[in-house]
This record gives sequence, structure tokens and C-alpha cells, in this order.
Amino acid sequence: MKLFDVYPLFDVNIVKGKGCHVWDDKGQEYLDLYGGHAVISIGHAHPHYVEAVSKQVATLGFYSNSVINQLQVELAQRLGKISGYDDYQLFLINSGAEANENALKLASFYNGRTRVISFAKAFHGRTSLAVEATNNPKIIAPINANGHVTYLPLNDTEAVKAELAKGDVCAVIIEGIQGVGGIQVPTTEFMQTLRTACDETNTVLILDEIQSGYGRSGKFFAHQYTGIRPDMITVAKGIANGFPMAGVLISPKFTPVYGQLGTTFGGNQLACAAALAVLDVMEADNLVENAAKVGSHLIEELKKFSHIKEVRGEGLMIGLEFNEPVKELRQQLLFDQKVFTGVSGTNVIRLLPPLCLSMEEADEFISRLSKLLK
Ligand SMILES: Cc1ncc(COP(=O)(O)O)c(C=O)c1O
Repeated sequence: MKLFDVYPLFDVNIVKGKGCHVWDDKGQEYLDLYGGHAVISIGHAHPHYVEAVSKQVATLGFYSNSVINQLQVELAQRLGKISGYDDYQLFLINSGAEANENALKLASFYNGRTRVISFAKAFHGRTSLAVEATNNPKIIAPINANGHVTYLPLNDTEAVKAELAKGDVCAVIIEGIQGVGGIQVPTTEFMQTLRTACDETNTVLILDEIQSGYGRSGKFFAHQYTGIRPDMITVAKGIANGFPMAGVLISPKFTPVYGQLGTTFGGNQLACAAALAVLDVMEADNLVENAAKVGSHLIEELKKFSHIKEVRGEGLMIGLEFNEPVKELRQQLLFDQKVFTGVSGTNVIRLLPPLCLSMEEADEFISRLSKLLK
């Protein structure tokens, strides 16, 4: 059997990782400014994480959601505390798309409506409603094009107020910072307007923090720069440092109903052990603060390059927009300079390194980039 060929691949076979570095099968080392697509939060192969996951799999890898899982309870308490959402409730699943599906479903159970507002360039995943809320017709199959979603321009307060005033919108879904869309940051004024308009119309506000959350922006959640509190927050990627896991943080205004949501694998013991180890390391090594500090330094240094049209982002979620396509530059970074980076569209390089990136590693990246941009 062959693999279903949907991924354009770099000709590199990564077999080992440590901290912010990875190695290929020939022993070549690379600096990882991509974190396996924003997934590696505490760094590759962190010893505490390795020990916690190994111990758990040797004890109990999985049992079903029909019995008490004390690890889930502990995770909910610790996540509530570190994120500032102590009073919210946690529902655990396996992927970002699944988190958004469940958030949208719960919103619809709550107010009985079926319309969703999403934004230009938004990405919310590749399943059912999550893909319909994604502003990319190329990945919406006819079976997913069910007319639930109205896309509005990001940061257009008047447009969103007018649409919500119709009183029939179930939910607004918005990324804390748009990732796939090219690191577009919603303004504080826009987020506050959104919050007020949702309150006035009984619309559910869902913050997709799947890429921008879990410390990446230099705050636990990117929306915390804007002073609002959403009704639901979706998380995935960095939550378990590569172990498939996701969550929905749900405000106390939603009452759980037995059987309304559910999953076989979500929140299993092994995933919870991985997620708890991530929180241990984030707290012990102050990784949110590190993301803020090293991120500001990187942004400051990147702004000095005259070749770069615009530098956007917060913390360690950074977009470098160029006037021309970046395909070649990204290849040169990887094959000549041995640096992994991400991309958005054609002209934006996306940096999503592990949150443990040091100042020295940030400077090393700047030095390797400057060799190509001279
Ligand atoms: C903002 C955002 N939402 C949702 C998703 C979908 O997550 P997953 O691929 O885990 O389903 C992604 C993945 O890139 C994302 O960046």
C-alpha cells in the first residue's frame, strides 16, 4: 500500500529531537523554528516529559470515559489555574478540528441557532463545521458547504455589529492570532466590540487558541492581550507537546448534559500524563514569560531587516511578510542554513519555535537569516 499523497514533502527524514533542535537520519542537526507546526511547546524529548509519559504507558495507557479519571480532574484544575480560567469547565478531545466541532455544537445546543460568523483568512480545521468555518474554498468539499457560515473582514467592527444585530447568529469563531492566515492580529477594539455585540445578541463567542494559545503569544492565551473573556476557548497543538490531544474550556453559563458530547479516546490517561508534564515544565521553566521575552527580542531584531516588508505577531508566533514569494528563501533556510521554518500563503514565513527557545538560539537564527538576506 502507498501513502495517500496529500502532503508536499521536504526531502528530509527527521529522526531525533532535543530542545529546539532536530536531527535527520544522516546525523545533520537543524535549528527548529517551526516546532512541528506549533506543536512542540516545551521542547523535543524533555526528560521530565519522557519520564512521565513512559511511566504512564507502563502503568495504564488507556481506559474509557465511563470511569473516574483522576488525571483529567487534575489537568482541569491545573489548566484553570495557569490560564486564569479557574471557573470554566474542560472537555477533552484529540485534535483541534474536533475541539472546534464540539464548541460549535455546544453553542448551537445552547441558543438553538445555526448561523456562524467567521473571518477572512480564518483556519479552524478540516472536518465538517470546522472546515466550513475555514475561509478557504479549496478545502471545503461540496458535502461541507452547508451555508452555515458568513465570513466577515477581520477587524471590521461595523460589519460584525451589523451582522450580529440580525439576532440569528449562533456563534462567532475567531483565532486569538490568525496562523494559517499569515499571523494577523485582531485589534483590542475589535475584540471588545465583538464581546459586547455577542452579549447583546445572546451569541456565543468562541476563541480558537489552538495555534496562538498555551503560552505561544507570551500570554497564556493571545486574547488575554485584549482584556475580554470568551464563552469557549479551544486548545490543541502545544497542550501535550506532540501527543494528540485537545480541549474546550467552557464558561459556567453552559450546563453539561449527560451524553450530549462524548469521545472514545479524548482525555485518556496517557494524553493526560503528557499534558500534565507539559504544565509542570511550563511552570518550572517559566515558558510563557520566556516566549514573551525571546519573542520581543526576535521581533525587534527582525524589524531591522530592510528586505522584510512587515513583521507581525506576539511572543513566539511571528510572521515575516516579504514583497515576493518565500518558497526559495525557506528552502535555503532549511537546506543551506539548517533551519526549519513555517509558511503562510506565498509571501509569509511563519516562526513557531518551541517556547523554550533561548536568546542565543534566537540570535543564531537571526545570524543564519542575515546570511541569506544580505
Ligand atoms: C487555529 C487553528 N485551528 C484549528 C486547527 C486544526 O487543528 P488540527 O489539525 O489538530 O485538527 C489548526 C491547525 O493548524 C489551527 O491552526
